[in-house]
Amino acid sequence: MAETALLAIDQGTTSSRALAFDLTGRVIAVAQEEFAQGYPRPGWVEHDPEVLWATVLSTARKAFSAAEDKGFRIAALGVTNQRETTLVWDRASGRPVHNAIVWQDRRTADICARHRADGAEDMVAARAGLVLDPYFSATKLAWILDNVPGARVKAEAGQLAFGTVESFLIWRLTGGRVHVSDATNASRTSLYNLAAGDWDEELLALFRVPGAVLPEVVDCAGHYGDSDPVIFGRPVAISGAAGDQQAAAIGQACLKPGEMKSTYGTGAFMLVNTGAEPVRSRARLLATTAWRLNGVSSFALEGSVLSAGAAIQWLRDGLGLIARASEAAGLAAGADPDSGVYLVPAFSGLGAPYWDPDARGLITGLTRGSGKAEIARAALDSVAYQTHDLLEAMRADGVSVSTLKVDGGMARDADFLQRLADITAVEAVRPVNTESSAWGAAFLAGLGAGEFGGIEDARALWRAERSFRPAMDAARRETLVGGWRTAVKRALG
Ligand code: G3P
Repeated sequence: MAETALLAIDQGTTSSRALAFDLTGRVIAVAQEEFAQGYPRPGWVEHDPEVLWATVLSTARKAFSAAEDKGFRIAALGVTNQRETTLVWDRASGRPVHNAIVWQDRRTADICARHRADGAEDMVAARAGLVLDPYFSATKLAWILDNVPGARVKAEAGQLAFGTVESFLIWRLTGGRVHVSDATNASRTSLYNLAAGDWDEELLALFRVPGAVLPEVVDCAGHYGDSDPVIFGRPVAISGAAGDQQAAAIGQACLKPGEMKSTYGTGAFMLVNTGAEPVRSRARLLATTAWRLNGVSSFALEGSVLSAGAAIQWLRDGLGLIARASEAAGLAAGADPDSGVYLVPAFSGLGAPYWDPDARGLITGLTRGSGKAEIARAALDSVAYQTHDLLEAMRADGVSVSTLKVDGGMARDADFLQRLADITAVEAVRPVNTESSAWGAAFLAGLGAGEFGGIEDARALWRAERSFRPAMDAARRETLVGGWRTAVKRALG
């Protein structure tokens, strides 16, 4: 009899991936396709929804067939995704009315500033757990309704559907039969009341969003529907969904209050489990839904860094200093350790704890002796410094920080992780399975399909691979961090 496997669709900011796992979390098959980013104006970032769909379809099919060719049977599939990215489509034709507006997009900064001036910040924090920033979906959705001719009228008449990426993909996977959003993705829209666990009338009114466009909010595990039989040659149960950072927290077994992880992708996202109640941050972190199962939510505090791996991608694509991201550490190894060069990668403004959409990137401390190596060092270190800032904010919110579980692309680089431990003075632990987001989604799909007994099963399937202990002396660390603080002040708008 064929061994059971689970398929995860991981639709991220720069690529769509699909991974098949066995029930122990071992990767059986992987497929990945990168796609083009749209930058129609400075600060604007868009994705073509049809490209998102086409790359998801082809990678999912590849991973599905590769796993079944190896003798496995895919029992269920789960979806995880770049969060906040906003799509609106016509319910009748299924066609998007505009490109997806990506989480990094800053076009609605002025709308957020106006809401702030009107004193809405407290109300948004109390209900949604979020700050007023263009990062979240609500103002992006309102922008589409206001800027696509006829969209608002159609939305009010119930002809348009809104969704974050998982919602759009589940709609397409089910042939337009299911319009849902899982609670973790809903918690990133600024339209969702964390404590009540549903869309919030006051937030809808503030952001001018008609309720008729919204998906039904569902648990992170459960049978949402079956995939259209033409996709895989037979229907497959879609039974798990979570935003990529929440899925990574589950994959990393951050299941009890205090357990934390940091994922290094395009951005860097640190989540600490806070248990059954959302915590109101005093340090400009976000309260967010960690998961919802059987109607019961667990929560997390999140620190969101908008550009992490993006800084390394910029060394490659913007400056041409390296041909592959993996070359950054080798180049940085030759840097003068006392160069005093800092790079603040505020390409899309700064996220937590600064929340300044007008901040812009800069490089400071250049001398005639600075070169490629110093810039590469500064780019890599910027990710460690931003992690340091998040840990300080976490402590200010009363979190006691012991170890940090790490994953994502940059966690493959041992030199980076050692530098991270040195600059943060916190031990970084890398698991055997660093595909945390995809594994989290596959695990949720397995949970929804009855393959696992409960969320605690994720702990038994997590194993540490290597730990990186801080080795830098405190005085040196203070000097380095002091230089970073000065550089950040200059970048703020
Ligand atoms: O909130 C945005 C986040 O979900 C994007 O993640 O992995 O695509 O950088 P990633």
